[in-house]
Amino acid sequence: MSNIGIIGLGHCLPKRVLTNHDLEKLVDTSDEWITTRTGIKERRIAGKDEKNSDLAIGAAKEALKNAQLTADKIDLIIVTTISPDSNFPSVACLVQKAIGAKHAAAFDLSAACSGFLYGITTAKQFIQTGVYKNALIIASEKITNLIDWNDRATCVLFGDGAGACVLGKVKGKSGIVADYLHAQGEFGHLMSVVSDGRDPLDKHNKLIRLPYVVMYGQELFKIAVNSMARAVEIAAKKAGLKVSDIDCVVPHQANDRIISAVAKKLKVPKEKIFVNIHKYGNMSAASIAVALYEAEKEGRIKKGDVVAMVAFGAGLVSAANIIRW
Ligand code: ACO
Repeated sequence: MSNIGIIGLGHCLPKRVLTNHDLEKLVDTSDEWITTRTGIKERRIAGKDEKNSDLAIGAAKEALKNAQLTADKIDLIIVTTISPDSNFPSVACLVQKAIGAKHAAAFDLSAACSGFLYGITTAKQFIQTGVYKNALIIASEKITNLIDWNDRATCVLFGDGAGACVLGKVKGKSGIVADYLHAQGEFGHLMSVVSDGRDPLDKHNKLIRLPYVVMYGQELFKIAVNSMARAVEIAAKKAGLKVSDIDCVVPHQANDRIISAVAKKLKVPKEKIFVNIHKYGNMSAASIAVALYEAEKEGRIKKGDVVAMVAFGAGLVSAANIIRW
């Protein structure tokens, strides 16, 4: 029986760069504070005319090219996002039209920063059961739309971007060896987007406030470290491996201090952990997808390596995925 694995990766990033020094002009913050507390130096910001779906389409096209597949061979498109262009149509349907994947089913999946891993595990089931052959999973965020740019506690953390992979049957020993999905809904209030609470039937209430991210950073920090370390341990055990067998860990990029604490807890040397948060900040679902793309491009992941992806995000949701490359 052949395994299921990644056969092509893609990414798409907005051109506009917002540095910590640029942020110093917007809110009461400093490059020094942001760098030491988070590891972030700059992030990408999608422009007014650059939609989430534009980033998703760019990433999808590159993943298809790298997989050497045409869009008509894609049976399923999953876009994982918490910042779609609009409530509907789904970003997945916009991608389907743009790339001409006329035989594909398409839907969006909401699992915040764990979205890419939730998407891969969901698509894997369809391929494993023989329902579909090739799936395109795209993690795409224009999360800066959901940020209150007067709130220094959150606006320094996030950026926009998209990453994608094509999932299909692979030969030899490579492929997904284990995955783990988890949710702790009881902590949902720690990171949420607050609506304006209008009565929809009140004709006189004209107040419209855009929804924005509210976050309790310190509480999330602790849960993030424990959840991510636990997710890797569980996934490794399911794969019949020891954590020390992992060659490269690609973690969600929320805070470099979280990544270091997870590495310490797992006793994994920092050289085995891929970090690109300094360039992009937290791109929610897109963080791991873009990090995986860059890790492979930079030769940090080689054929035969055991790769662990691990995520944590609003919901709260955590996930891990172990792949033999
Ligand atoms: N610039 C300067 N000072 C700031 C800034 C800023 N941008 N933001 C906060 N401060 C101040 C605070 O007001 C506070 O000042 P005070 O001591 O006078 O009250 C001080 O800095 C310390 O603030 P803390 O919140 O204690 O800082 P902390 O070290 O915890 O770092 C951070 C904050 C970076 C948010 C951290 O807690 C974190 O990364 N948390 C986890 C975030 C996360 O994982 N998010 C969820 C996943 S994302 C997703 O699901 C889409």
